[in-house]
Amino acid sequence: MSIIQKFKESELKNRDPRFLAAVSLLNWLQTKQIIFYQRSFFGLPSDVGFYKHIVSNVVRHRKRFEYAIELLSKRSLQRIDPEALVCLYIGLVQLEKGSKVEEYAAINESVELIKTLEKPHLKGFVNANLRRYLREREEVDVALKTQSLDIVTSHDKRQIERWTEFFGLEATKTICESNNVLPEVQIILNPLFERNSIVNDLLSLGFDLFDYHDEGFSIKNPEGIFNSQWAKKGALLVQDRAFQQINLLLEKLPKEKVLDACAAPGGKTFHLEWRFGNDISLLVSSELDRLRMTTMRDNIALYQSKAKAIQANSHHPPFKESFDLVICDAPCSGTGTIRKHPEIKWLRSEKDYQRNQKTQLNLLRQLAELVKPKGHLLYITCSLENEENQGVVEKFLSCSKNTFQLVPFSHSALEESVITKEGYFQTLTSPKQMGAFSALFMKM
Ligand SMILES: C[S@@+](CC[C@H](N)C(=O)[O-])C[C@H]1O[C@@H](n2cnc3c(N)ncnc32)[C@H](O)[C@@H]1O
Repeated sequence: MSIIQKFKESELKNRDPRFLAAVSLLNWLQTKQIIFYQRSFFGLPSDVGFYKHIVSNVVRHRKRFEYAIELLSKRSLQRIDPEALVCLYIGLVQLEKGSKVEEYAAINESVELIKTLEKPHLKGFVNANLRRYLREREEVDVALKTQSLDIVTSHDKRQIERWTEFFGLEATKTICESNNVLPEVQIILNPLFERNSIVNDLLSLGFDLFDYHDEGFSIKNPEGIFNSQWAKKGALLVQDRAFQQINLLLEKLPKEKVLDACAAPGGKTFHLEWRFGNDISLLVSSELDRLRMTTMRDNIALYQSKAKAIQANSHHPPFKESFDLVICDAPCSGTGTIRKHPEIKWLRSEKDYQRNQKTQLNLLRQLAELVKPKGHLLYITCSLENEENQGVVEKFLSCSKNTFQLVPFSHSALEESVITKEGYFQTLTSPKQMGAFSALFMKM
């Protein structure tokens, strides 16, 4: 019986965040799917953040914790009861450097937790191993450093081999290490609002802004920013630096009629509108998923956007008109966004990349029909995988030889390192940005 079935939803409400984290993690171990409980499950707003911190850090550092647990307990993971394993993970997260939880509380709460999970006979095991970790933390860290990159940085071994093959060992190390660091909150400002007022107000509220640029800035201490009046009024859009740069590549293209064909929740649509609003007379944002479309519509209202939202399947686009620019921000594995979504580390396989390639190619082929002669088709992913990036571009070009050509991006607008030798835009996950890929085609 899954732990979620064991405890009724009503029994999960207003419980200790560690308990809810344990339920999420036990379910994740059983089903491989992570379910984050929503705010309504928590008594205090601060509990939500603590719960998310525990769950996402266990998911992020799983293999490293498992290495420590096997070393300390001298037992293989298969011989450890899942409830005890989860209590150890949760204890270890709270004993990490920089944790705000007192050591005694981290241990005592994990011991209490194993009782709540109805395995009181395992409290000695949980207690002994967490105490041992406190005493032998340095030895564990030294031993860990001798392990392979997949254990040190908690990644799937095959995934590391693939990245090493494509990008080399140094770049792979940077990707893996960066995947374990929370992403910076990078903001673009809605030009309907006055920049100086926003900046001064946020500074006076104690937000530490840095990396200012023409369109926005980053925030070092973002906690509470989404409750600020500026966020509520639609002045702030979170957009990773990787995606901010793609717009710079579109400066010179005709953009009178634009279709964003996989649009929700709308980040690309809004950024495009804010930067090139004067050039665009028609901006259509279409999206397949009904719930995501609802979010898109809410965001259109929030940001006072002129985009026309249409729920549609881009495999069978319903549009009669053609467009100067069609954007396909394709559904993909998201392996460039592991910093934000650590569960992706454990969810994806080569089969997914190959399956995604078929979908992505079909989307491009269908959307290609909607591009005007001399118009452009922009392909974007947040994947690091060759199958979903170069692989899709090559296959698309080989079957559209007479109708589309690749328009290589030039270095002029951007740093040289983000343009590949073929003229694609590609960022690998780094301390500054997520992984992204883009290629531009022109209809002949
Ligand atoms: C990478 S996300 C888009 C992110 C969005 N462009 C942004 O910047 O906020 C891909 C989106 O494509 C949507 N999608 C997937 N298949 C689709 C299809 N056949 N037609 C239209 N949208 C689709 C997904 O629901 C998802 O919202």
